[in-house]
Amino acid sequence: MEIVLTNTPEEATELVASLILDCLGEKPDLVLGLATGSTPIGVYRRLVEAYRRGEADFFQVRTFNLDEYLDLPAEHPQSYRSFMWRHLFDHINIPRENVHFPPSEGANLLRRCEDYDKAIAGAGGIDIQLLGIGSNGHIGFNEPTSSLRSRTRIKTLTEKTLSDNSRFYKEGEIQPGLAVTMGIGTILDARQILLQAFGSKKAEALRAAVEGPVSSICPGSALQLHPRATLFLDPEAASLLRLREYYRRTRQNEEALRRQGRL
Ligand code: F6R
Repeated sequence: MEIVLTNTPEEATELVASLILDCLGEKPDLVLGLATGSTPIGVYRRLVEAYRRGEADFFQVRTFNLDEYLDLPAEHPQSYRSFMWRHLFDHINIPRENVHFPPSEGANLLRRCEDYDKAIAGAGGIDIQLLGIGSNGHIGFNEPTSSLRSRTRIKTLTEKTLSDNSRFYKEGEIQPGLAVTMGIGTILDARQILLQAFGSKKAEALRAAVEGPVSSICPGSALQLHPRATLFLDPEAASLLRLREYYRRTRQNEEALRRQGRL
């Protein structure tokens, strides 16, 4: 795991967006794994801005979203499909058929979940997987105790996740209690993982994910098993990490080697 300690969420967002745009410059048919929630909104804004400036072309890009609420219609403002169109897809030149979400409505869900993993593999696998993390350590909707080798499937949301996300639902509105999510195994198949986390509410989850044991009780800790996972944290999210100084020095050393053209 590489830990990048930034001064602000904006700095983290800038770094992540630049990384994605650089990769897109090198590989126009980039396969992106995408997250929803508050955390990646700034990255999507920067991708849209780059497109508007003529600096990014999404025509060949293919995307696979991490998760979607079970049975929430696509047009519901809280569906992850409507989120993605609102924040990104409506504003760039990605063809509709290049955009993929896990199956969350209708029948044969188990088979269609398998098809989702097959579609990811068929696209050549995910080049960059963007992630946030829940205050309970979930990645995607892989809640605590999710199998570390799980594939795309249906998950029951924990009370913690339901209460964290209740802010998005009006009083009296029914909040979905189930979701379909890429599995932890599916996520770990991505070639590169970029996770962002901001705010003190994420500090405990980050402590467990980065410096705790690899354990399904903190699904984010599975990223320790990935050879190219980078975590971009603001000071509050990083506040409980014991090895902050070490992460800072590691980053400085890497930047120095990069400047010398040795990486
Ligand atoms: C969203 C997702 C979730 C969020 C996490 C953090 O697609 O998979 O794991 O990344 O719940 O959400 P925010 O960013 O709203 O704090």
